[in-house]
Amino acid sequence: MAKQDRERAKTASLRRELLAWYRHNRRDLPWRRNADPYAIWVSEIMLQQTRVAVVVERYQAFMARFPTLLSLALASEQDVLALWSGLGYYRRARMLHKAAHFLASQHQCNLPGTAEELRTLPGIGVYTAAAIASIAHGEAVAVVDGNVERVLCRLAGWEAVGRTGGAALRRKIEGLAASLLDPEQPGDFNQALMELGALVCTPRNPQCLVCPWAADCATRGEHKTRPRPGMVSREVAHGLSVRMGQGSGREVLLEQRPASCTVMPGLWELPALLDAAVPEDKLRMTVRHAIMQVNYYVRIRAVFEDDAEALTVSGGERRWVPLNEAARMALTGLTRKVLHRAHLLPTAQLDAIAPEPVPDVV
Ligand code: ADE
Repeated sequence: MAKQDRERAKTASLRRELLAWYRHNRRDLPWRRNADPYAIWVSEIMLQQTRVAVVVERYQAFMARFPTLLSLALASEQDVLALWSGLGYYRRARMLHKAAHFLASQHQCNLPGTAEELRTLPGIGVYTAAAIASIAHGEAVAVVDGNVERVLCRLAGWEAVGRTGGAALRRKIEGLAASLLDPEQPGDFNQALMELGALVCTPRNPQCLVCPWAADCATRGEHKTRPRPGMVSREVAHGLSVRMGQGSGREVLLEQRPASCTVMPGLWELPALLDAAVPEDKLRMTVRHAIMQVNYYVRIRAVFEDDAEALTVSGGERRWVPLNEAARMALTGLTRKVLHRAHLLPTAQLDAIAPEPVPDVV
């Protein structure tokens, strides 16, 4: 067989093996039950830099509140941020909202059909445009995210380089992704490759024994991965103040981060304490909360109304909020976490993300 024919046959078998593996092992994620481009767009924006398990939970609430692009476009920014709470990187929510506005006013609520056009929208880069175009519209464009990069580097035996000098490698990976992509099923193929990276070809302890590509893999798990950038630790402290409201329910004291903040402007949080060194007898709980490269070690102390000078004055609006209203507000992820742990908010339900059962192909 000529070299070209051998390569063509190899590509065909890699596609077949990966897609068969995906049919049996794909997780039953809510956005995979839906072919609506708007629903897929929302999921792909949420999935940027956020773990699938977190997205599943927030996605369902978001889609229940904003089931259509028009409903999102018509919502207030505070409502959109409230439903984004817990996902972090709130700029994504603002961009999504802005793009929905634009599409509703200029394009009769239709999402563009190609990756190239999608990239012109706020918040949609090369990777997200390829994901939406391939999954929602069947366009044959390859997605290269961190998972795909790792899988293809291991498959080809390419050394993953550090954060610098990777442009040439990146181009090789994109070339390989494009040549492997199944043009008949680009959406499934892209998702299968991301799924393989998430479930089997993991950064540590890859499960090579169950990998559909093990026979063709140059490294089989012995491959170096990029070192994780070092995390830094920071200690902060917030005050938790709860009182009985005018009606029957309790209220919590919240503060809105000023619009001038570079991080999470407009979101609501527990007021910060002047003194981060909380005495043990006043300590209600400690919480670890990671945001990007920072591990926050957060000390929470109860602050009573006659002790309000323990709180900082940040310049943001401070308000007593009924707990049932707080649950629907644009809270920071940390604030939501603390209120859950203090049993002041209902516990969120995590949807099952087990593999979807499929009949065996004979
Ligand atoms: N990561 C980003 N998009 C994804 C998708 N559609 N499926 C699995 N993982 C993803």
